[in-house]
Amino acid sequence: MTLNIRPATVEDAPALCDVNLRSIREICGKDYPPDRLDTWCANKVPGNYLKWLADPKLRLYAGERDGRVAGVGLLDVNGWIFLLYVEPEALGSGLGKALLAHMEQEARAMGLGRLQLKSTITARDFYARQGYEDLGPTGDEIPSFRMEKAL
Ligand SMILES: CC(C)(COP(=O)(O)OP(=O)(O)OC[C@H]1O[C@@H](n2cnc3c(N)ncnc32)[C@H](O)[C@@H]1OP(=O)(O)O)[C@@H](O)C(=O)NCCC(=O)NCCS
Repeated sequence: MTLNIRPATVEDAPALCDVNLRSIREICGKDYPPDRLDTWCANKVPGNYLKWLADPKLRLYAGERDGRVAGVGLLDVNGWIFLLYVEPEALGSGLGKALLAHMEQEARAMGLGRLQLKSTITARDFYARQGYEDLGPTGDEIPSFRMEKAL
């Protein structure tokens, strides 16, 4: 199995959207009620990935597993990770860790001293293992946790 992380392209938008939606519904679905999943998925349409690609403040990444898009990452140049999702078939493959390490490396190269994110209930332990400090619930409509890591 080969893993590869690269900048996303316009052609990736439908695949990134599909991976993101399946990750939310099929992986996070065990931790959230259906109405919350609907709210969460509402902005996951291919056009928004194109918008994020064109935004100079954002960096969108595609995670490939054996040459196929199987993960998505979105980094904000101000030090926020906005998206990190893998498709259900890629769970436990190391792709999530590889995408996160790539975004951390990019953030360091931008001169950022720390990264912040809002973790799902589902990914909280994953981020803790990668060195992120849990700062507690965000209080958002979709329950999540503020986490951060010094780079
Ligand atoms: C979080 C996520 C991206 C991790 O991706 P992944 O490819 O399954 O994770 P990896 O295989 O790279 O795992 C890396 C390490 O974290 C551990 N890990 C992965 N998921 C974990 C979890 N839910 N709880 C605890 N540990 C976890 C793995 O065992 C592995 O440990 P190791 O480095 O000691 O071997 C993936 O589970 C996912 O897409 N979840 C649903 C979407 C989500 O909640 N995203 C977060 C948005 S903020």
